[in-house]
Amino acid sequence: TMGESNSNPRLFRFVGGRIGGWVVRSSRAVIGEGLPSVERLDLGSGTTAIPDGAKWILRGVTSNPRYTTRTEKEQLVRKQAALGRPEATLSALIPIRKSAKWWELTQDERRDIFESQSKHTTIGLKYLPEIARRLHHCRDLSEPEPFDFITLFDYAKADESAFDDLLAALRATAEWKFVEREVDIRLERA
Ligand code: HEM
Repeated sequence: TMGESNSNPRLFRFVGGRIGGWVVRSSRAVIGEGLPSVERLDLGSGTTAIPDGAKWILRGVTSNPRYTTRTEKEQLVRKQAALGRPEATLSALIPIRKSAKWWELTQDERRDIFESQSKHTTIGLKYLPEIARRLHHCRDLSEPEPFDFITLFDYAKADESAFDDLLAALRATAEWKFVEREVDIRLERA
């Protein structure tokens, strides 16, 4: 809504259409329904005008960590890079929705699946700093959103196969059994 875009600097908007700084190389429905195919992706803050020819718009907010321990946080901060390095000419936008069953679990049950069983952070840490990432949450926006998370990554061409290995490892975990919709959109800087 207008109120949200005007007041929240953590709000990001992802517009599939004809213009934008990223060329869409591929878009694949991993599970569930895909998204209409588009030529370009426009990544912007919540406040800018919707570009002409937009076919879909996704929104999400960055937030505080839910499942990260102090030790993990320190490891992440020590290794991770920010999005937007000049050599990171490839990007992936992967919107994800988890099932009602996931959201009915308690915090401790979700943490157990996320890390004790699935090793999400442990696996991910091995790919830092080459893969940079930003996680956006969608559930608490005032308008209902089609996904729960918008994940965004960037990396150099040489690290694309490592990124594919990382995704294969995560998709094989207990956590991903709760993923009911996932679209894998690969981008290249225009
Ligand atoms: C959440 C690390 C790659 C999807 C998280 C969290 C961490 C993390 C620490 C938890 C944040 C919190 O405490 O709330 C990493 C690292 C990666 C990586 C270091 C290496 C690049 C990926 C990839 C995907 C992914 C490739 C696949 C699209 C997600 C999702 C969440 C998440 C959907 C939210 C889970 C939830 O709250 O239920 N990641 N991740 N991550 N990550 Fe990753």
